[in-house]
Amino acid sequence: MGRLLVGLARDSADVRVVGAVEAPGHPRVGEDAGDVAGGSPIGVLIGDDAEAIVKPSHIVMDFTGAPEAALRHARIAADCGAALVVGTTGFDASQRAELTALASRTRSVVAANFSVGVTVLTELVTTAARLLDESFESEIVELHHHGKRDAPSGTALALGRAIAAGRGADFEHEAVLAREGMVGARTRHEIGIIALRAGDAVGDHTVIFGGLGERLELVHRAQSRDCLARGALRAARWIAGQPVGLYSMRDVLGL
Ligand SMILES: NC(=O)c1ccc[n+]([C@@H]2O[C@H](COP(=O)([O-])OP(=O)(O)OC[C@H]3O[C@@H](n4cnc5c(N)ncnc54)[C@H](OP(=O)(O)O)[C@@H]3O)[C@@H](O)[C@H]2O)c1
Repeated sequence: MGRLLVGLARDSADVRVVGAVEAPGHPRVGEDAGDVAGGSPIGVLIGDDAEAIVKPSHIVMDFTGAPEAALRHARIAADCGAALVVGTTGFDASQRAELTALASRTRSVVAANFSVGVTVLTELVTTAARLLDESFESEIVELHHHGKRDAPSGTALALGRAIAAGRGADFEHEAVLAREGMVGARTRHEIGIIALRAGDAVGDHTVIFGGLGERLELVHRAQSRDCLARGALRAARWIAGQPVGLYSMRDVLGL
C-alpha cells in the first residue's frame, strides 16, 4: 500500500509526499521512496523516525499492518496536530480503543477498507439486515492473499458490525469467528465469519442472508489494490479541510 500511495501521489497534481518511514533497521531505509515504489525518484529518502518528519501541516498515512506502529504514528500525529489516515487492520479491543482516543484528538479518517464499493456495500448490508425478518441468518465469507497477517479481515468485522447495527444487536455477542467439530445447529442470531487465504487475491467479501427457500448474497470483489489506495488518497484530500474529529469513509463519501 505504501508503494501504491507514493506512486499515485507522484502522478497527482495536488498531493505531495514529504516523508516515508520504515521500521528502524529495514533494508530500504535511506532509499528514495519513488525508486522503491517503482518509477522515477521523488527526492524523499525513506527514514526510520516518524517523529522527526511529521509537522502539523502534514497528513500521516499509516498502512504498516503493525498495530503498535500504527498507534505510535497516531500518537505522533495527535501530539503535533497533523491529520491522520489509518488503514492498518488487526487491532485488538484495547488497541482499537486507544486508536479511537488518539484519532479523536486530531483530524482523522480510520477505515478498515477505503474502497468506495465496500463503503457502499456496508450501507447496503445494514439496510438488508434491517429489512429482512428474523428468519434470515447471516454469514460473511472473505478471501484474501496468502500474505495477509490478520484474520478475519477488518472489512469482514466491519460488515459484521453493519449487520448487527441493522438489527439493533450487539456484534461482540453475536459474532462466531470459527466452527469446528460437533458445534450443533447454528443459533438464529449468530453472525458467522469465515476467512479464506489463497494466492494473490486482493480481497473478496460475500455477505449471505440465508432464508427459507431463498438466499440474498451481497458481494464485493476488489480486482486490484488501486481502489484501496485511491480511496485512501481521497480520504487524505477530504480530511485536510475538516475540523478536528474522527471520521469514517462513510463521512468522506457524504453517505
Ligand atoms: N484500509 C484499507 O483499505 C486497507 C487496504 C490494504 C491494506 N490494509 C491494511 O494495511 C496494512 C498494510 O497492508 P499491506 O498489504 O500494505 O502490508 P505490507 O505489504 O506488509 O506493508 C506494510 C509495510 O509497513 C512496514 N512496517 C511494519 N512495521 C513498521 C513500523 N514499525 N514502522 C514503519 N513501517 C513498518 C512493513 O515493513 P516490512 O517490509 O519490514 O514488513 C511494510 O513495508 C494491513 O494491516 C492491511 O490489512 C488496509
